[in-house]
Amino acid sequence: MNVLVTGGAGYIGSHTVLCLLNSGYDVVVYDNLCNSSYEAIKRVEKLTAKTVKFVEGDIRERLALTELFKTNNIDAVIHFAALKAVGESAQIPLDYYQNNVHGSLTLLEVMAEFDVHNFIFSSSATVYGEHNPSPYLETMPLGRPTSPYGTTKVMVENIMDDVSKSNEKFRGISLRYFNPIGAHESGQIGEDPKGIPNNLLPFVAQVAVGKRAKLSIFGDDYPTTDGSCERDYLHVMDLAEGHVAALTWLQDSAQFRGVEAFNLGTGTGTSVFKIINAFEVATNKNIPFEISPRRDGDLPAFWANADKAKTALNWQAKRSLEDMMTDTWRWQSANPNGYNN
Ligand SMILES: NC(=O)c1ccc[n+]([C@@H]2O[C@H](COP(=O)([O-])OP(=O)(O)OC[C@H]3O[C@@H](n4cnc5c(N)ncnc54)[C@H](O)[C@@H]3O)[C@@H](O)[C@H]2O)c1
Repeated sequence: MNVLVTGGAGYIGSHTVLCLLNSGYDVVVYDNLCNSSYEAIKRVEKLTAKTVKFVEGDIRERLALTELFKTNNIDAVIHFAALKAVGESAQIPLDYYQNNVHGSLTLLEVMAEFDVHNFIFSSSATVYGEHNPSPYLETMPLGRPTSPYGTTKVMVENIMDDVSKSNEKFRGISLRYFNPIGAHESGQIGEDPKGIPNNLLPFVAQVAVGKRAKLSIFGDDYPTTDGSCERDYLHVMDLAEGHVAALTWLQDSAQFRGVEAFNLGTGTGTSVFKIINAFEVATNKNIPFEISPRRDGDLPAFWANADKAKTALNWQAKRSLEDMMTDTWRWQSANPNGYNN
């Protein structure tokens, strides 16, 4: 099976490409490298001793996508390519709608033109919005996310629904990720954000390696166990394996038409203070921090009900919090400047 992976040079994409290759799939990666490096692909090839077909390009470029579908026999698409910084999306919302929504539309149109109907979309827990109670269940109504970034995910999920109603061949899966952290256990690939990290773990790791002086904790007076925000952190390799499970499910479910959503999380919330402590214990590093004001739009706590993925996809997050910390540190300490070493 030949799988097109958009955004496959990025953090989750590169780990997923590695799992796909190890599971025997052929992979074409399409990425404009706006938030990633080709070096990630080279390392995946080395780790798997397999080759990836890489095409540099933008999902909004219809001609380039058409050419790609014309010259490759694509059976399924895993669509990671997106801008993902929640705070930035409030500053430049049009860029986010343009990239994430228009890009997805163009991709879906070209897929339809070439009669490709297997589509796995990188969605997010943010689609549950502010008002659904945790643990989040796939049967809950989609909410109104607090950021334009989150709204782009809801919009693409709605588009997939409408496409499935109009095209009886469409087979869509929406994977709603919770908070992926960690890195491949080799320490060769990991998260390498450009500029100041938006997410907790890359920031913690950069403080540990001496790139940043201290961590800011945004709010310590939330109604949670220790006052800091709680999230459902899962190991990026578990998340990557979730994509292989979803693809396998699509292949095994020949009769399936429509769209299915699956939460990919552990089912447990962990606080920011607990993460810092776990990182310090696993790495023997001290993480200086300061308490900063709350950030707009941050919810106090949310986590997944991941039963549906367990029952239907036979997928479950297996790796521990300690694995997430040690693997992050192995990657960061071996690559203090990410892929630009
Ligand atoms: N990391 C998370 O915490 C998280 C959580 C939920 C959902 N997601 C979603 O998962 C997907 C992957 O996230 P990630 O953390 O790996 O991010 P990432 O930035 O590392 O990867 C995204 C990749 O897409 C590429 N890209 C962006 N716009 C593109 C375009 N117009 N054309 C071609 N390539 C483009 C980037 O260069 C990058 O390689 C995204 O859709 C993101 O919204 C991420």
